[in-house]
Amino acid sequence: MVERLRSLAPWHMDLVLRCGTRTVAGNLCNYAEADHEHVIAIDPDELRSTLEHLYPEGLAGRSFLDVGCNAGGYSFLARSLGASRTLGFDVREHWIRQARFVGEHWDGDTSNMRFEVAHIHDVDLSDGFDLTLFKGVFYHLPAPIHALLRLCDATRDVIIVDTASRSDIPENALVTNFESRSHVMSGVDGLAWMPGGPRAVIDILTHAGFQDCHVAFWLKELAMGPRPELGRFRVIAARQPGRLAAPS
Ligand SMILES: C[S@@+](CC[C@H](N)C(=O)[O-])C[C@H]1O[C@@H](n2cnc3c(N)ncnc32)[C@H](O)[C@@H]1O
Repeated sequence: MVERLRSLAPWHMDLVLRCGTRTVAGNLCNYAEADHEHVIAIDPDELRSTLEHLYPEGLAGRSFLDVGCNAGGYSFLARSLGASRTLGFDVREHWIRQARFVGEHWDGDTSNMRFEVAHIHDVDLSDGFDLTLFKGVFYHLPAPIHALLRLCDATRDVIIVDTASRSDIPENALVTNFESRSHVMSGVDGLAWMPGGPRAVIDILTHAGFQDCHVAFWLKELAMGPRPELGRFRVIAARQPGRLAAPS
């Protein structure tokens, strides 16, 4: 199993397979390609308590959209909480190959779980979703406002937006964020935009009809690495006023 995981490396999502092996066991110290270096590991289970709070009765009967899904960890989490339909898409085949592999080796039912290679600006969202996760992607896009408005249109209940941010611009501003087109964790367009803070995203969400917006966290300066102005925030937004105080 570890050999197979190595052939699919690098892994960003630390997921446990049916046999007990963790996906990150396949990660290497060095890679032949620079575009595979510096991929940090995360545990998607960090979102479990948020989803349980939003849906205390579970996600049965709900659909879940996972944008830039990577190895699909958040879709598997949503399914473990009962989601009846999930779509995870990512612009890179590298990650969708991983998501499908995890699906084959995951200890759970994967019916009605789909993973697709697609760019956010082109993906078909016509089925609509109850819950959308837009995490780690806003700041990799050439047209993030357009993308977020599309996602809002496709979302019936709650959208979670989690993005990197910049503390050296106004909270409601966006600033260019030119980046690699080929690193496995980046966008594919070169041009991208970084928000100053939650206000930049909340103004778009409110315009799109999400009347209840809550800042789950805002770390203005992560104080790591050579760029202290880099931060991170997460906004949870619901269409229905008062929905976040009183989960359905
Ligand atoms: C920083 S990672 C975040 C992955 C995951 N959502 C998470 O929160 O751990 C960015 C992911 O978005 C994908 N991505 C970047 N640009 C995209 C685009 N235009 N459309 C779809 N996925 C994209 C990347 O391939 C990568 O998997």
